[in-house]
Amino acid sequence: MRTLIRNGTVVNAGGAVAADVLVDGETIAAVAAPGLLDTAFDNIDNVIDATGKYVLPGGIDAHTHMEMPFGGTSSADTFATGTTAAAWGGTTTIIDFAVQAKGTSLLATMDKWHEKADGNCAIDYGFHMIISDVNDTSLKEMESCIDAGVNSFKMFMAYPGVFYATDGEILLAMQKATETGSMIMMHAENGIAIDQLVAQAIAAGRTDPVEHGLTRPPELEGEATHRAIQLAKVTGAPLYIVHLSSRHALAAVAEARNTGQNVFAETCPQYLFLSLDDLARPDFEGSKFVCSPPLRPKDHQTDLWRGLRTNDLSVVSTDHCPFCFKDQKELGRGDFSKIPNGMPGVEHRMDLLHQGVVHGEISLARWVEISSATPARMFGLYPRKGVITAGADADIVVYDPAATQVLSAATHHMNVDYSAYEGWELIGRVETVLSRGAIVVSDGAFHGREGHGRFLSRELSQYLV
Ligand code: URP
Ligand code: ZN
Ligand code: ZN
Repeated sequence: MRTLIRNGTVVNAGGAVAADVLVDGETIAAVAAPGLLDTAFDNIDNVIDATGKYVLPGGIDAHTHMEMPFGGTSSADTFATGTTAAAWGGTTTIIDFAVQAKGTSLLATMDKWHEKADGNCAIDYGFHMIISDVNDTSLKEMESCIDAGVNSFKMFMAYPGVFYATDGEILLAMQKATETGSMIMMHAENGIAIDQLVAQAIAAGRTDPVEHGLTRPPELEGEATHRAIQLAKVTGAPLYIVHLSSRHALAAVAEARNTGQNVFAETCPQYLFLSLDDLARPDFEGSKFVCSPPLRPKDHQTDLWRGLRTNDLSVVSTDHCPFCFKDQKELGRGDFSKIPNGMPGVEHRMDLLHQGVVHGEISLARWVEISSATPARMFGLYPRKGVITAGADADIVVYDPAATQVLSAATHHMNVDYSAYEGWELIGRVETVLSRGAIVVSDGAFHGREGHGRFLSRELSQYLV
């Protein structure tokens, strides 16, 4: 099957250029000046006219939680529904987190996540591994995970008694990461201090969702980020701070990067567009916005956009972890600490970030860099993913920058009963999506299938060699 995408503007991390793209089977065969490919190849089966459109490498969402057991329930998207929603929004690869439960092994965890995902995904997928039980066996098993293409390990300085790791445990895992060239990803919030603030709020009868934000102050994200960076420095380990939300944490990352330390960070659309005001919405509506770290006062957003421009923030992922308002968020009515932590977002990352282009916060090329090229490099997928070039997988998005759309739970494809962006009017819209050459979205319809997505055994991060 050969597809020719004609007359579009190809946008890579290096810039935009008028070019045609020929797809042959699962890969990109050629990228050439407009018109050059028209007669160069026989048997073009399908021509896509991209006049006035951007032709982008498919988005890579490096932080999702499908079917994740958490807070006494499980995130609402399966790998099938979540990857389908991702495709609708121009994301053609996800990297999801396999979660080690205490007392279980990393290898059994990896098998379990394969059981959930294999044969069910509409787009390609990889895994990171969450280590919640640091011991000799799990440290040794990190090596087998790496051999199996799972070479990034998330640890938590938050959630004591659940995922929390002590500084000593973090140090041990970081030493192993240094030894193996793998990456430690950190949820950086001081969970021990936060738990005291949470207990005090509940005891004082302050139980509304906004208290989730007030009991997790940005200083405790900044402190934990700084501490993680120092542990990484002592051990020589590379460090990737996940879901960075505040200027306090950003300052710690920027300081480390300025000294040449291998510290990277991602933020998420919810921190760029939503705020503590949303957590304070009345009638328990604020529960829709409970995630950790929490949404911050609006003025942090200016710093985060600046961080994206200066590359102190190198990636935007969603931390997609949806829980339905009815039945799931409800678990925390009367006690905010029981609201399952997490928000939906996998479908709208590309579109929301495009608003940053529209409003002059980031350039067109930077949009592609933070949403596709850098995640590919960071997590060992480049140049197979993250770039429109000959030889790359034909994961391609034809994007209409002039179209408009209104986000709503009534029309989105995520398996969750609310939208955090209900009624928001956005400029730009995904028109056509190819995953390894197969059309999965076009003409407003889904043409993909569960099981098309393949597991991606990832190379080591290309930022570390
Ligand atoms: O609230 C969040 N972020 N839920 C997902 C789990 C995590 O910490 O990433
Ligand atoms: Zn986290
Ligand atoms: Zn997460």
